[in-house]
Amino acid sequence: MDNNLVDVFSLFDGKEEELIPILQKVQNTVGFLSNDSMEEIARFAHVPKSKVYGVATFYAQFRFTPKGEKHIMLCRGTACHVKGAPRIQEEIENHLGIKEGETSKDLKHSMENVACIGACSLAPCIMVNETVEANLTPQKVEKLFLSKGKNK
Ligand code: FES
Repeated sequence: MDNNLVDVFSLFDGKEEELIPILQKVQNTVGFLSNDSMEEIARFAHVPKSKVYGVATFYAQFRFTPKGEKHIMLCRGTACHVKGAPRIQEEIENHLGIKEGETSKDLKHSMENVACIGACSLAPCIMVNETVEANLTPQKVEKLFLSKGKNK
């Protein structure tokens, strides 16, 4: 078993009611929930794997693919929406060849929707890792993600 999982499991008793904190801790430690991790969690918590998937898929906070080198958070808040976020999202998807919730095969980019990134006066905006990219236009998106090729 992965040493990270051994470390995480040492913090818990292995009970079904601990599933959510276990999933959170594994994701925080490893970055995402792989199929192997889900199997190990099921064994550790003495529940079927389907139960672990059932719990994890219920909550938007859990991800089942690794984040890319550049993780893009697309704001779906009202201010960004009104100022053209759907068009920006479409541009980004066209440039990177991935859609919301996906990671490119080369692991360079991943993308997720978030409620609001707290920079509404700069709408439409996204976050790339820790950086806010503000007042986006299709032209700015092109500059940000110059590679036109599909990375998927
Ligand atoms: S609505 Fe996009 S940052 Fe708040």
